[in-house]
Amino acid sequence: MTSPSDSTLVRAARRQPVEHTPVWFMRQAGRSLPEYREVREGIPMLDACRRPDLVTEVTLQPVRRHGVDAAILFSDIVVPLAAVGVDLDIVPGTGPVVAKPVRTREDLDRLPELTPEHVPYITEAVTLLTAELGSTPLIGFAGAPFTLASYLVEGGPSRTHTHTKALMHGDPGLWHDLCARLAQISGAFLRVQAAAGASVVQLFDSWVGALSRADYEEYVQPHSASALAGVLGMGVPRIHFGVGTGELLPSMGAAGAEVVGVDFRTSLTDAVARLGDAYAVQGNLDPALLFAPWDVVEANVRRIVEEGRHAPGHIFNLGHGVLPETDADVLTRVVALVHEASAR
Ligand code: CP3
Repeated sequence: MTSPSDSTLVRAARRQPVEHTPVWFMRQAGRSLPEYREVREGIPMLDACRRPDLVTEVTLQPVRRHGVDAAILFSDIVVPLAAVGVDLDIVPGTGPVVAKPVRTREDLDRLPELTPEHVPYITEAVTLLTAELGSTPLIGFAGAPFTLASYLVEGGPSRTHTHTKALMHGDPGLWHDLCARLAQISGAFLRVQAAAGASVVQLFDSWVGALSRADYEEYVQPHSASALAGVLGMGVPRIHFGVGTGELLPSMGAAGAEVVGVDFRTSLTDAVARLGDAYAVQGNLDPALLFAPWDVVEANVRRIVEEGRHAPGHIFNLGHGVLPETDADVLTRVVALVHEASAR
């Protein structure tokens, strides 16, 4: 039996030859699956994330159903923040909501560093999962400092990131200290997962596409680099993903990733032209296209697989997460099609 460190996912991330393009989906565990809705019934999201038995079951569901080439730990980017004591909730249909936004030096002083003792349930879940998964790799993940800061500073989801940008430019000293703390938390959270057996990690900077390249490089990149450095030397390839990041792709790669995630607004061909041959790419089917007739889905999957053949390494994924109303059977067909269309 091959080991997860020799799986198609890890090999593609390392830009090594693969027998077919590996495929997984961001948010593959979740409301698109009836078996997920069943086990989550009546259990609040954060409670679910702290139950290793439930985390294991939910993480395995899309692997069993779709035959994807990787599992991603069922958790959330705000789990480590809750673990260090931030008063927050994950509100269905809205997302993370923080009781008291973090906007002052005193607020920051109340945000401790993360140690493995804060998240014993993560170590336990990853240990259970890697035993169950055998040769299928488990992806660990964390939120990047900017995206976490946005939730903390705004107090919840934001389209404009108003308070976040006001803090970044209005009090750069406090901004950098806040992001340094968040980088410690993210880096430590990634390290816990890699130490327990995750084979790959992904840093989600979902909302960083709201920044110019200059602001990204000055206010964000050093902190994302420090989070990604958390797993240096542990032998796990790092994927760095954000939405609307066409202008930021080279800077996100330079933050210290082996794989750069590409959303659906930038073609893989353009992404590779911007990134050069030092990175593998991940992406990038528009999740909304899964609602189109199958011949449309098929044509787009084939186009992306073809573009990926010219990349130094390609992991097939959506350009962002699976939408809750997605037909799960379409996802299963996409996995089979990626494997067939990419077979070497
Ligand atoms: O399958 C997977 O991809 C693993 C699980 C996962 C979740 N959240 C589960 C979840 C991952 C990787 C995340 C990361 C996450 N969480 C991100 C980065 C990825 C992205 O989408 O850009 C962000 C921005 C969050 C914050 C967050 N948490 C949002 C925006 C939401 C959705 C709110 C809603 O209900 O529409 C959540 C809640 C959440 N995280 C759910 C799941 C399955 C839904 C909660 C539920 O089912 O009750």
